[in-house]
Amino acid sequence: MPNRDSIEVLLREGRTFPPPPEFAAAAGMADPQIYDDAASDPEAFWARCASELDWIHPWTKVLDWKPPHARWFVDGKLNASANCLDRHLKTRSNQAALIWEGEPGDERTLTYRDLWRETCKAANMLKSLGVRRGDRVTLYMPLVPELAISMLACARIGAVHSVVFGGFSADSLRDRIQDQEAVLVITADGGYRRGAQVPLKRTVDEALEGCPSVKNVIIYKRGEFPIHVQEGRDHWWHRLMADQKIACEPEAMDSEDMLYILYTSGTTGKPKGIVHTTGGYLTGVNATFRWVFDLKEGDRYWCTADIGWVTGHSYVVYGPLSNGATVFMYEGAPDWPERDRFWSLVEKHGITIFYTAPTAIRAFMKWGTQEPARHDLSSLRLLGSVGEPINPEAWVWYHRNIGGGRCPVVDTWWQTETGMIMIAPLPGQTNCKPGSATMALPGVSAEVLDQKGEKVKIGGGYLAITRPWPAMLRGIYGDPERYTSVYWSRWGNEIYFPGDGARRDTDGFFWLLGRVDDVLNVAGHRIGTMEVESALVDHPWVAEAAVIGREHELKGQAIAAFVTLKDAHKGSPELMDELKEHVVKRIGALARPDAIFFSADLPKTRSGKIMRRLLKDIAEGRMLGDTTTLADPAVIQALKEKYGEEG
Ligand code: PRX
Repeated sequence: MPNRDSIEVLLREGRTFPPPPEFAAAAGMADPQIYDDAASDPEAFWARCASELDWIHPWTKVLDWKPPHARWFVDGKLNASANCLDRHLKTRSNQAALIWEGEPGDERTLTYRDLWRETCKAANMLKSLGVRRGDRVTLYMPLVPELAISMLACARIGAVHSVVFGGFSADSLRDRIQDQEAVLVITADGGYRRGAQVPLKRTVDEALEGCPSVKNVIIYKRGEFPIHVQEGRDHWWHRLMADQKIACEPEAMDSEDMLYILYTSGTTGKPKGIVHTTGGYLTGVNATFRWVFDLKEGDRYWCTADIGWVTGHSYVVYGPLSNGATVFMYEGAPDWPERDRFWSLVEKHGITIFYTAPTAIRAFMKWGTQEPARHDLSSLRLLGSVGEPINPEAWVWYHRNIGGGRCPVVDTWWQTETGMIMIAPLPGQTNCKPGSATMALPGVSAEVLDQKGEKVKIGGGYLAITRPWPAMLRGIYGDPERYTSVYWSRWGNEIYFPGDGARRDTDGFFWLLGRVDDVLNVAGHRIGTMEVESALVDHPWVAEAAVIGREHELKGQAIAAFVTLKDAHKGSPELMDELKEHVVKRIGALARPDAIFFSADLPKTRSGKIMRRLLKDIAEGRMLGDTTTLADPAVIQALKEKYGEEG
């Protein structure tokens, strides 16, 4: 078994990892010519990718680009659910589409025919409750097949789905339902997480106080959870489904009709409803799934992300199913009941492609090699990583201890806004370097630019996407101005600014360096510092709050909050706990601060801007950086004395 030393030696030597010869020989995308083909005529290239889908009516123009607004496959008509289901019925009717395991160990397999039938019935169920094309439907569910079925059912009738991750609080759920004016919510009585029950329906009941747009709630019965059923509004999934017919023609949707809204954090207190449309999005996720994961007949693919995040939308549902893949889904936590649960699932279900996040990989490292070593992982042939920069040590550990040294590791950079993977290796041809997401995919144009927009050939700067791509976001729901100002104004309106820092090395490889704005990445999840600050100042005793991310061994970043209390209130360990719970109530457990520092004042510049850099130094126990621009140096002196330079 390789030890830590040998990993360090490998990294010091700067070793690259070419595709294993056997893998390369069988890979679908082994010819580097594709990069040039795509670059020489990107629109023709993406049009070829789009023709892999079933269109009800062909497009008349590939791209209509009026910066910063793009329309792809203009006038084309298609249906996303038909592309994920109906078109596979002739060839894959009895092939497993979803293999699912619940946290308690219950199992289900749905073939493509099963998934198609359930989706058609669910689509009719939505229609029976009056849901129409263009209506918004909020999904707040555990990771069960019915979540995918609900998404596909919405897509089938042209309703817009918006999945809210089950870890969000009632307040967060309410904000999202109100923002999109949803007409219906699909939830479950509850879910399981680390053996505990998650009371999803109770949270929905609380959220719906103040949501007059919602006329109906459908409850999928996951277990024996005590719930309140509100007569006239709430309906059991299984009762409604029992009456539905199977026949349900898919709606012919315009390529630019909205497929879904998914909320993500930005630099203000209010999450953004990212809008994705149909034709371009499906083209992007369909192609990139095939390329990056080198899909083959017989593969069993497992992406560990919850469908509540974009990774689940693009690479649990739309990418894999539009390719006719067999998708494995697991409802629960990696360490339940033991720390080898993931590896026992890989062994039991013969998983061949495994896609997870660096934060999970670092936890696996901490738990030790004996956990994967207990299981036969020889079915695996490809590993992936997403959500945050993967540190080289974790990359090498993953390659060795999970992949047995024989599986390429694809580090994939992308965002909720990009919809599809943008920077990643092609596993049959790219010589990977641990820690680098390598190169932009064919048809994608990425650069590193400096402040002024000058190209940085070698060195650090800001990541930029310099050409529109088919799965790009089409807007922020209800806020067109914010779309332009956040993403398309840093270097003019033709270049997309993702908000990430990046470096290019002498081979032109990209090394992603994390966010350059006030957005944190905690365990692979985006949280805006302003959101947490708003939650804190919402507490009656808090006068002011400043939130920063401090380095965390497993989570990448952890949330630290500096809090100034209103007169007459004093900080105490009890108040710390209360404030943490307050944030959980306002946003959800994923935003719980790790540490709270009470401070009589916050360090500010003379123009009143909080100097987060100094707070970060304090929270991470570092020597303080430049303090000369401080309005009142005594503030930082007091903080330093209180919390010391070791934090
Ligand atoms: O900072 C980048 C980081 O995650 C952000 C996007 O977060 P979200 O929209 O929640 O989507 C996550 C899953 C696609 C990016 O702006 N990020 C994502 N993948 C990587 C990454 N940073 C470095 N390397 C990656 N592979």
